[in-house]
Amino acid sequence: MSTVLDRDIERILVSQEEIDRVTTRIAAELDRDYKYSKRFLLLCILKGSVVFMGDLMKKVRVPVEIDFMKVSSYSNGTESTGRINILLDLNRRDLSECDVLVVEDIIDSGRTLSYLTEYLRLNGARSVRTCTLLDKPDRRVVEFVPDYVGREIPDEFVIGYGLDYEERYRTLPFVGVLARSVYAPE
Ligand code: IMP
Ligand code: MG
Repeated sequence: MSTVLDRDIERILVSQEEIDRVTTRIAAELDRDYKYSKRFLLLCILKGSVVFMGDLMKKVRVPVEIDFMKVSSYSNGTESTGRINILLDLNRRDLSECDVLVVEDIIDSGRTLSYLTEYLRLNGARSVRTCTLLDKPDRRVVEFVPDYVGREIPDEFVIGYGLDYEERYRTLPFVGVLARSVYAPE
């Protein structure tokens, strides 16, 4: 790790080994729960979930389709603004036979997933469930309980393994706590 990154990361919160164990466990749960699904769709929410999705989809053994949506929820770095915008949609896709599993990197206020799951149901999905690598339950603004959770974490801003701060740090292979000095300089 470069010295710049060393300085920006306060500590490693979820190691590569733990991520590997968690993705293996969730994939086994999905194999069990979607065994009889006719069309099982893993829906990656760009960009943050792309690394988790890539690892998870390689470990799932039941047949899957993949697709992508992009939504924006954050506009000022580390705080949610409350507004959800769909930037890339699934339009034209018939969801009536699809059991959709929304794959998220992290749940914070709960706004993104409560909005998206409602949206997918209104668009006719056969079933809609959610899977998140990380969950910060203490931060909920709207009530939301995901179906599959990698790990609950405390209320800290994290980066790596797809998660960014101002588009940086997504390529780190672990999840780390961002040093406060990066976003709240003295
Ligand atoms: P929610 O709508 O508030 O639940 O926010 C979910 C989205 O906020 C996630 O998909 C992330 O893009 C972003 N987010 C929330 N917490 C963090 C964090 O600690 N680090 C990086 N991104 C975060
Ligand atoms: Mg995200």
